[in-house]
Amino acid sequence: MTKEQLQSLLESLTLEEKVGQLVQCNAGQFIKNQMEITGPEGEMLPAEDLNRVMGSVLTFEDASQAKALQEKHLAADPKKIPLLLMLDVIHGLRTTYPIPLAIGCSFDDSLMAECADMARKESAACGVHVTFNPMVDTARDGRWGRIMETNSEEPLINSRMGAAVVRATQGEDLGNPENVACCVKHYAAYGAGEAGRDYNGVELSERILRETYLPAYKACLDAGARLVMPSFNSLNGVPSVANKWLMNKVLREEWGFGGVVISDYDAVGELVTHGVAEDLKDAARLAMEAGCDIDMVKNAYYLHLADLVREGAVSEEALDRAVFRVLSLKNELGLFENPLRGADEEKEKALYLCPAHREIARRAAEESAVLLKNDGILPLPRTARRLALIGPFAETQHLVGFWSRPGAWKDAVTLPEGIRALAPDTELLIETGCSAAIGDTDESGIMKAVAAARAAEAVILALGEKEDDSGEGRSRAELTLPGMQLELARRVIEANPHTVVVLFNGRPLALTKLEKIAPAILEMWYPGTEAGNAAARLLFGEANPCGKLSVSLPRSVGQLPMSYSRMNTGRPKPGPDSQAFPFSSCYLDTPNLPLYSFGYGLSYTDFAYSSLTLDRETLEKGGSLTVTVTVANRGQAAGKEAVQLYMRDLKASVVRPVQQLIDYKKVFLAPGETARVTFTVTEPQLRFWNFDCEFVSEPGTFALSTGFADHLILTKTFEFL
Ligand code: GLC
Repeated sequence: MTKEQLQSLLESLTLEEKVGQLVQCNAGQFIKNQMEITGPEGEMLPAEDLNRVMGSVLTFEDASQAKALQEKHLAADPKKIPLLLMLDVIHGLRTTYPIPLAIGCSFDDSLMAECADMARKESAACGVHVTFNPMVDTARDGRWGRIMETNSEEPLINSRMGAAVVRATQGEDLGNPENVACCVKHYAAYGAGEAGRDYNGVELSERILRETYLPAYKACLDAGARLVMPSFNSLNGVPSVANKWLMNKVLREEWGFGGVVISDYDAVGELVTHGVAEDLKDAARLAMEAGCDIDMVKNAYYLHLADLVREGAVSEEALDRAVFRVLSLKNELGLFENPLRGADEEKEKALYLCPAHREIARRAAEESAVLLKNDGILPLPRTARRLALIGPFAETQHLVGFWSRPGAWKDAVTLPEGIRALAPDTELLIETGCSAAIGDTDESGIMKAVAAARAAEAVILALGEKEDDSGEGRSRAELTLPGMQLELARRVIEANPHTVVVLFNGRPLALTKLEKIAPAILEMWYPGTEAGNAAARLLFGEANPCGKLSVSLPRSVGQLPMSYSRMNTGRPKPGPDSQAFPFSSCYLDTPNLPLYSFGYGLSYTDFAYSSLTLDRETLEKGGSLTVTVTVANRGQAAGKEAVQLYMRDLKASVVRPVQQLIDYKKVFLAPGETARVTFTVTEPQLRFWNFDCEFVSEPGTFALSTGFADHLILTKTFEFL
């Protein structure tokens, strides 16, 4: 449609039809009731005309449902306005790749793009028009269950990977039915909730919001994301979906966002619960005033928006602007000409879990894994005659993590399957030993596990957190391994010291006690469909671990919230772990530093860094400075290394972090190979938000280093003039 045709379509709509375009229903309520609304969710909305007027649905399962929903709606809608079909495709649709926090540990934007591109193909065939992805909430508190859903604690990684997802998912032309529109979320600062609890309020200075929490959303919008989802939380007292500063001033005016804003699930209705709206009608008014276009499920707009317009509480112009944004998105997606778009049952069958997609998922799982400790026991010999495979994750398929599609876990390759594929002659003694359930004290299975450990040459101890113990609504007050797993580890390792721990978890765990007893620890996060194959290849050395932590692993929950890019304070602790001077920023009962720092990760080979050089000693605005560092593979195994560049602004008008990641590159080196890795530094990378919330750079001395957080090496300085 042309813009003029779209405008005349808008003008042809009745008030109820306009409101309908801003209503999103849960498709499930149609599908399970053969497209008639009769179930409990139907009571939320008067069923008689919903199918006729609604503008979009979320959460359907496949191409046939997508087609049925669209055909049923178009048959009922006299204006023939196609539905928008939206779905959460967070880390794969049917072929599940690792959770986003894991992919962040790959430090490889191109790998993130490859995974997103795979998900795009499967989503388009499923009939998805909009995915509620990427989620780029900066998270620095592992108590929050949704930390699994973002890439990192570092906004630079969230920005670069989020933008990579948008570009890979939307492609060059959204009119192409193979491409899917992105909804960036959750705007804003959802990961900074009080006490690490989901949905909790967030109180942040504008300066820190702009410095740490807003950049990644902006990066995704700069990459072209067509929708934004405000977050459930209140931000400085006002819930995001009604927060005019956030939604009007920053998003629409400062950033010039002209796309669609869709609330989170019933977030409009929850304005009443927050205590900022008198009732549902008041909530609808507040959300409209803040520029929220679509009310996701529940019924504030459906029941009250038409009356608000009739009463003049909401202007028809505001309503028209919102409706036109929705119609424009449908038009850009080509829905008026092709309402079924990419939905294709045959394509689904061909793409889902196909070898090419499995290869991507497996490679992503391998490159997202982080080798935390290895006293030399890894890689395991493939000639091992008998291995014990012990723990709650020893043979489960629940290795895909929260926000995978319902039932995706049933496709997952288990550890035994992966090991047997590589070492078919190795006998496996498999014992669960105990559960991973929070609060479980049953240790009756440990005795059998110990016996298996004793009888084996080596032990693979598969521990972690249950899939459903991270994700939405899954905050924890403790970060230790749940249940009796630590006791299981202690007794198994005592019985057989040749033990490797493999972890499957969605949040950064506090591994202090485990680290003391485990000879080796491989962090796999939730690796997805190819979990068992990836884990086996890493354990036997067919793949060389190359992940680096994109989130700090704390020693204890008491250190949270924690980030590597901390301020120096006026009284920094004298030494990394000394208790020497009590009147300093320290704890009486634990060191300050995390157990494992941001950017840390081991390999089966040895990468040596040397001669970091700058091509000049000064930098001026508009200029650029080239940093070069030599990285050599001095070991016997080929491998990849994420080379990191950190900066410190030694003096500024506001306190600046002691270390800040400003760039990273991944290189592959064969044994004995050396690479000269170069980075370009320009003035925009020196900018920060000053006390008056101006985005500035200031002259002075800057330090550049490589290595990883808290372990910076080869530092050189330059003057910014
Ligand atoms: C959920 C989540 C959001 C998701 C939406 C639709 O509550 O907060 O991330 O996209 O509802 O499923």
